[in-house]
This record gives sequence, C-alpha cells and structure tokens, in this order.
Amino acid sequence: MLAILGLLTSVFSLLYVTAPSIRKFFAGGVCRTTVQVPGKVVVITGANTGIGKETARELARRGARVYIACRDVLKGESAASEIRADTKNSQVLVRKLDLSDTRSIRAFAEGFLAEEKQLHILINNAGVMMFSHSKTTDGFEINLGVNHLGHFLLTYLLLERLKESAPARVVNLSSVTHHLGKIHFHNFRGEEPYRWGFAYCHSKLANLLFTRELAKRIQGTGVTTYAVHPGIVRSELARHSFLCCLCWRLFSYFLKSVQEGAQTSLHCALAEGLEPLSGKYFSDCKRTWVSPRARDNKTAQRLWNVSCELLGIQWE
Ligand SMILES: NC(=O)c1ccc[n+]([C@@H]2O[C@H](COP(=O)([O-])OP(=O)(O)OC[C@H]3O[C@@H](n4cnc5c(N)ncnc54)[C@H](OP(=O)(O)O)[C@@H]3O)[C@@H](O)[C@H]2O)c1
Repeated sequence: MLAILGLLTSVFSLLYVTAPSIRKFFAGGVCRTTVQVPGKVVVITGANTGIGKETARELARRGARVYIACRDVLKGESAASEIRADTKNSQVLVRKLDLSDTRSIRAFAEGFLAEEKQLHILINNAGVMMFSHSKTTDGFEINLGVNHLGHFLLTYLLLERLKESAPARVVNLSSVTHHLGKIHFHNFRGEEPYRWGFAYCHSKLANLLFTRELAKRIQGTGVTTYAVHPGIVRSELARHSFLCCLCWRLFSYFLKSVQEGAQTSLHCALAEGLEPLSGKYFSDCKRTWVSPRARDNKTAQRLWNVSCELLGIQWE
C-alpha cells in the first residue's frame, strides 16, 4: 500500500514539475513576422469566435480592414466591437455569410464586390464538426457542404478581386484529422451516414486537396494559397458532440488557446517569402507532412470537377 502511495506521489510530482514544459510544447509555433498591413483588405469566415476571431484581432491590430463574415450578425457585431475597442482600429466590419446556403454565399460575395475594390487576404476559417447526419440548404452533407463546398464557392466568387489586388493570399483551415479522411465521391449528398462520424475528417482532406489544386491553377497570378492545421485548440468546435466536449474539458490544460491556434493562419497570411510554398500545408508555423491521399493529384482534380458540377459553376 505504501509502495503504491509512493509511486502515485512520484508520478503526480513529476507531472506537476513537467506540466509547464508539456504545456509549452503543445502551445506550438509563434508567428514571428512583424509585418504591418495598413490598408490591406481581409475577409475571414467564421471570425465571430474561436481561431477566426483571434486571427481577425491580430490582423486588425496590424492595420488591416477586416471583414468578419459570419452567419450570426449579432455574434459578429459583438466580436467586432470587442476587437475595435482592443485594437483601436475602427475598420472591423461584419457581413452575413452562411456557408451552408449557396444563396447566402452569393449574396455575401455580391455585396462585398460592390463595396470593396480590393481583397488581399481571404481566410477560409469557418468550420463545423458534426457527427449527426444533417445537410446544408442545398442538400450537401453538412461537414463537406460547409467546410469544403461553401469555401470552394466563396473562393471562386472572390478570386478575380484577389488577382486584381495581387500579391494576395488564400488561407484554408484544414486539420491533422485529414489523415483519417477519404473522399467519398458517391456520397456528397450524404445519402449514407458516414461510419464513426468521419465526415469532418473527409471535409478536412477536401480542404487540403482544394489548396493543392488551387495553387496549380492560380500559379503566376500573384495569388498564392496555403492550408493550415491550427493545432488542437480550446474553441467551440466540439460543441456538437458531448464526448468531444468532455475530452476537450479533460485535456483543456494541454490544448492550445485560441490565440495560440491563430498563429499558423497569421503566419500563412503574413510571413514574407512564402510564395514558393503555395499549395503546401502548415502546422505550428512550419511546413508539415500531409497524408498520401492529400498528395493525390488525380483525386484533387476530380474533387475540383465534382465540386464545380455540384455547385453549377465553371472554373477552369
Ligand atoms: N479547434 C481545433 O482544435 C481545430 C483543429 C483543427 C482544425 N480546426 C479548424 O479551425 C477552424 C476554426 O475552428 P475553431 O476551432 O475556431 O471553431 P469554432 O470556435 O467552432 O469556430 C467556428 C466558426 O465557424 C463558424 N461557422 C460554422 N458553420 C458556419 C456556417 N454554416 N456559415 C458560416 N460560419 C459558420 C462558426 O459560427 P457560429 O459561431 O455561428 O457557429 C464559428 O464562427 C475550422 O475550420 C476547424 O475545422 C480547428
């Protein structure tokens, strides 16, 4: 009994002593560039909370005009007023964008293009992690519909403005969970529920394949694109799953804060000299390894074509 007590005491003492180092390890990379972006125009989807909000805050602090594109304008206004007060930048604007509805995406793009003559940074940040079997307004499986198809359409609609404003960047939030993903071309409309709720992982693989193919197609235009894994972050992403919420709570000490989670998005949006790495995947502010499926050019091309078909667009 005494031996067990001794062992437990040693384990807990060790954990207590090493916890700050472990926490520091999980905090990950820091965006070190000091670049300021006064007058640059930025759109960030889902920036009313989480990683997107912190990304918006830092870009506003550096002088950008930041558009918070979100589905709940009241939540967006509350985030924007907090950021305006914090950064003393009045150019933080909120516009409605629901990525689960292509009409809303088109309305957002139309309004934005009428209002702004430039766009330098588009951050496709919004994301949903749903385990239940649900669909978007247009009948797409919800994870794929919002995380991939919604951002695919948004980028298509804004790309000319990005080209006109070059040098410009598109940053796509993916995830390390893409390693568990696979593109199920027959199931984009979610006819069959995905086993074990892997739909989120499939959508995050789609984000990577989109980044890869987009980089090829925009080569030489002055627009570049990057995919990001932000780390495992204490945000609201797990809100739709009791089990995930529980795990997030249990391990919350070791998860990144939302400020830490924003660092790689900021790095890809701001760091100088990143252009030769267009199409690549970053984590902790460094280029990192993608799964073999995310390097498959044929799947990337097919995903591009099928996405165009589903959205009724022609994007060469
Ligand atoms: N947190 C992590 O550990 C982690 C890890 C890897 C990758 N990521 C990725 O990082 C990105 C940001 O996630 P987060 O952790 O900051 O999560 P979050 O706190 O849940 O924020 C997600 C944002 O996306 C918005 N959103 C969801 N559905 C939308 C829709 N249909 N239309 C428009 N906006 C919508 C949410 O709006 P509402 O507030 O209105 O719901 C919210 O603003 C996501 O792409 C996620 O996949 C996160």
